[in-house]
Amino acid sequence: MSGLLIINIGALVGIHDPETRVLRGEQMQRLPMLEQAWILCEDGKIADFGRMEQLPQQMPTAVVTQDARGGYVLPSWCDSHTHIVFAATREEEFEMKIQGKTYEDIAAAGGGILNSSAKLQKASVSELYDSAGQRLTDMIRQGTGAVEIKSGYGLSTDSELKMLKVIRKLKETFQIPVKATFLAAHAFPAAYKNNPEGYVKLIIEEMLPKIADEALADYIDVFCEKGFFSVQDTDKLLSAGANYGLKPKIHANQLSVSGAVQIGVKHQAVSVDHLEVTDAEVLQSLKNSDTIATLLPSCSFYINIPFADARGLINSAIPVALATDYNPGSSPSGNMNFVLSLACIKLRMRPEEAINAATLNGAAAMELSKELGSIAKGKKANLFITRPMSSLAILPYSFGQLQIETIVLNGKIS
Ligand code: NIG
Ligand code: FE
Repeated sequence: MSGLLIINIGALVGIHDPETRVLRGEQMQRLPMLEQAWILCEDGKIADFGRMEQLPQQMPTAVVTQDARGGYVLPSWCDSHTHIVFAATREEEFEMKIQGKTYEDIAAAGGGILNSSAKLQKASVSELYDSAGQRLTDMIRQGTGAVEIKSGYGLSTDSELKMLKVIRKLKETFQIPVKATFLAAHAFPAAYKNNPEGYVKLIIEEMLPKIADEALADYIDVFCEKGFFSVQDTDKLLSAGANYGLKPKIHANQLSVSGAVQIGVKHQAVSVDHLEVTDAEVLQSLKNSDTIATLLPSCSFYINIPFADARGLINSAIPVALATDYNPGSSPSGNMNFVLSLACIKLRMRPEEAINAATLNGAAAMELSKELGSIAKGKKANLFITRPMSSLAILPYSFGQLQIETIVLNGKIS
């Protein structure tokens, strides 16, 4: 097997200590890099790197050489929150939004998650796999090298299992790490409108045992929100998930301050995601925990809700990750580069902070930071090479324009 040697790298970015698993507070500003560098990948992993002036004359094995011509090399984006398995887009809601309807108005009018659910229930595994695979292929082309994917448009035992099987198939067939999250508690199906306890019971007593039996999920998620699942429901669901070894990653404080973050922290959630609405108590509860705050600025952008208080979170030394939330209703885009721009422009994150949040901390929000998210010997060689750039800030600055030219997955140009 031959290795890959990338030479004439303008800057090799994100060279963190290999033992660093997550960054918080001022650490988030530190993004160590090496200018005029080379990197060698072997057996799918990062084998070595250094400055061009110290490029070894002889490489240990045969190598394919790629000249970066001054382009930057970064670890791939780690997108830790997506809903890319869905049967149909929802552009009709886009028009309703333009006319002034809110996300809640649309959901109440029969749109939203229930609309996606009705369509997903009719789709086959292979149809869902094909369309989700296309989305994943696009995301990879835009620099994503690890992804979390949720169920949550099934809302019945069969359809939730169907979604998780699609995710399993994506895991088996795509070259990047995929984590699966069980999100049956995404909305109450119409049949349970007047019997919410009945649906929570169905999830706990029927769905969870089946999913655990087939090891279909890595995490459990709940949309804890007014009009969706209450804090009490969430508490019950997360306790039940824990019995099957599923750690939580939850939808929290998207539309209101609901107690969702606190319940996530109580259950030692890997991450609490969204956090468009927070207060001092939310920050306080996260401060003394290992839970990551995953921010989804393209959702705020698309449905016109407040942007998360990234500065408050970072100043409170809470680790912040960034993800796309790619889904048909609140963020119909899987482009991490745009998320990076929004994080800088709207969340006032520095480029270094945003890149750390989209790489190492994103990996941590999928419990993958031991093997991904930074440049370190022995880590998986999922990287991208940009066009030649005058500085790192060009990445978020040139919003909507793809600077990435070459994708490397498992040490090979793909
Ligand atoms: O993360 N908030 C809940 N879930 C998704 C939206 C799902 C949808 O509208 O289809 C989100 O924004
Ligand atoms: Fe989401």
